[in-house]
Amino acid sequence: MSDIKNFIASQKEALLEELKQWLRVPSVSADPRYKEDVVRMAEVVAESLRKAGADQVALLPTGGFPVVYGEKIVDPTAPTVIVYGHYDVQPPDPLELWKSPPFEPEVRDVSPGFSGNIYARGAADDKGQVFIHVKAFEWMVRHNALPCNVKFMIEGEEEVGSSHLASFLQENKERYRGDVFLISDTSLLANDVPSITVGLRGLAYLEVEVTGPNIDLHSGVYGGAVPNPANVLCRMIASLHDERGRISIPGFYDDVVELSSEERRFLAEAPFDEKKYMEELDLAGLWGEEGYSTPERASIRPTLDVNGIWSGYTGEGAKTVLPAKAFAKISMRLVPHQDPDKISALFARHFQEIAPPYVKVKVRPHHGGWPVVVPMDTPEYKAAERAMEETFGRRPVPVRGGGSIPIVALFEKVLGLKSVLMGFGLDSDAIHSPNEKFGIFNLLKGIETVPAFYRYYAELKKGKS
Ligand code: BES
Ligand code: MN
Ligand code: MN
Repeated sequence: MSDIKNFIASQKEALLEELKQWLRVPSVSADPRYKEDVVRMAEVVAESLRKAGADQVALLPTGGFPVVYGEKIVDPTAPTVIVYGHYDVQPPDPLELWKSPPFEPEVRDVSPGFSGNIYARGAADDKGQVFIHVKAFEWMVRHNALPCNVKFMIEGEEEVGSSHLASFLQENKERYRGDVFLISDTSLLANDVPSITVGLRGLAYLEVEVTGPNIDLHSGVYGGAVPNPANVLCRMIASLHDERGRISIPGFYDDVVELSSEERRFLAEAPFDEKKYMEELDLAGLWGEEGYSTPERASIRPTLDVNGIWSGYTGEGAKTVLPAKAFAKISMRLVPHQDPDKISALFARHFQEIAPPYVKVKVRPHHGGWPVVVPMDTPEYKAAERAMEETFGRRPVPVRGGGSIPIVALFEKVLGLKSVLMGFGLDSDAIHSPNEKFGIFNLLKGIETVPAFYRYYAELKKGKS
């Protein structure tokens, strides 16, 4: 079926132009200043879906930002694939580090051997990857090559924890009856080493506040005699890891399932170049939990990281001040079977316990999400595997991902549906960072691969029943 290749080759410029329209909308869900743009983005996705030939296209209310819906029911007896993705993006700052503005997409890095990258916030996470599905769908509809029913669930709150989506799923169980979720919101190991994500980490995210005196003070007049909440917070945070790189919160590891050495050997087959990894990040060394490899530390092991920390004076020059308060945002990545609420509670209790008596501590939980493990002995995994093998010319390797997509666990809990995580980005795409990009190769390869997935999935499901 090289027809799709013709479509891609002949439509390349038009595809890029339409994706650029998507990328120009600053749909930052975390920042209330962008509220109207987030809703406008939902409309832009809906418009592309309508143009692509989807029926019943609508913005479904959630209590937060809407879910973009669309469907094509080709045959009630055929399997139904639900495409999940998100149209919201992370905040673009620090703005000064972007080579081209985050919402003015630009193609760069074109060379004789490489088709270039498109730079913009959301290019890889997740607009470019949602776009893949819309365009592959369009091609299948136009060419009568859609062997499955399709339903879309493109949400606008993934980057802020999908908090309204749980009740949305409850209320829309009927609408989202189907067989499997197909999700492109993860990465490949490399463009010549295709991979399928078979696990995601869970997440517990909290904010802490440490209070010393009731007002900012002169650090000379009071310093040395009054507890400094910034100093205290740093000590508290430093104590959360031991010298072996393990998290020292009592009970933190209680529910962690250790992988068998066979499972670890299996996952270690995915190629990894530690030297290159360090070079790309300009690192002189790596740090992590003793006894685990770098890929293991970033996938099958739980973590605790400060995501932001602030206190006192952080402007230009120096101001001699002993701050009244210090804050930090802390994330913990979780592995199967760690419960995000339980871990948040353990953290909160421990953090109160280690606080010295001369400060006050507040802990506020933010969002959380359960970890996910994707089984490989299913028609959907095999379909993804065969599709990628066909289009990349190499069998994809299974990898556990380190990131989180909080709603995926609920697809199974609420709707009873498994997911297949067939992402086309690269870890080097700088998602959530300045200069986020998405390879044109990845975009086009994705559009080529998705129809192959549907074809194999329909075949494998038929064979089974
Ligand atoms: N697409 C990412 C998750 C991801 C990226 C998984 C790469 C695997 C590989 C997603 O948009 C994301 O950023 N999730 C957040 C969740 C949070 C905001 C609730 C994350 O992992 O930090
Ligand atoms: Mn994403
Ligand atoms: Mn993201």
